[in-house]
Amino acid sequence: MSGHQRELTMRFLAEPSDVNYGGKVHGGIVMKWIDQAGYAAAVGWSGRYSVTVAVGGIRFVAPIRISDLVTIQTTLVYTGTSSMHFAVDVRARNPMSDDAGRLCTHCVIVYVALDDAGKPVQVPSWVPISEEDTRLSEYATKVMALSKDIEKTVARYRATDAHAS
Ligand SMILES: CC(C)(COP(=O)(O)OP(=O)(O)OC[C@H]1O[C@@H](n2cnc3c(N)ncnc32)[C@H](O)[C@@H]1OP(=O)(O)O)[C@@H](O)C(=O)NCCC(=O)NCCS
Repeated sequence: MSGHQRELTMRFLAEPSDVNYGGKVHGGIVMKWIDQAGYAAAVGWSGRYSVTVAVGGIRFVAPIRISDLVTIQTTLVYTGTSSMHFAVDVRARNPMSDDAGRLCTHCVIVYVALDDAGKPVQVPSWVPISEEDTRLSEYATKVMALSKDIEKTVARYRATDAHAS
């Protein structure tokens, strides 16, 4: 049922095929995992096919080793009209140990739900309840504002570039 599952967790082992040139997990692979978890969370919340529209504040905090147990945790932190904003934490740990693992990557990823014609469509709204919810919601709004600001800067830069050539 849509509009109910605010959190989603994906857990799996980092495989040898995920390796980068330095022997750890490739950053692009981590981004793929984030997008897969975010997609599942977005279609679960909206009950609609959804597409990624933006990723903000991505930070690779610590490397992930091949054979680590990886946990991707997504939490819905803001809904607009058609958009759903998820805070994503990627944690990893040695599966032979029982520690809580370490934070490896964090970001906010935004999805837009689409109707059958491929147009943005309204999603069930999520209303912050606790102080922590409000804090996360404000955080998502700030990341979105930054992302839109960057888009404007890029558009200005590209317009200048087009005139120059
Ligand atoms: C997603 C898409 C359908 C949106 O179309 P659009 O004409 O820009 O639609 P809108 O301007 O109405 O924006 C739709 C929503 O995206 C949000 N959005 C747009 N740019 C954003 C950004 N940089 N950061 C966060 N949200 C953003 C808008 O705020 C709006 O949210 P709201 O309905 O909650 O207010 C279109 O941009 C698209 O098809 N993008 C490609 C998606 C894709 O292929 N993803 C896979 C990437 S590889």
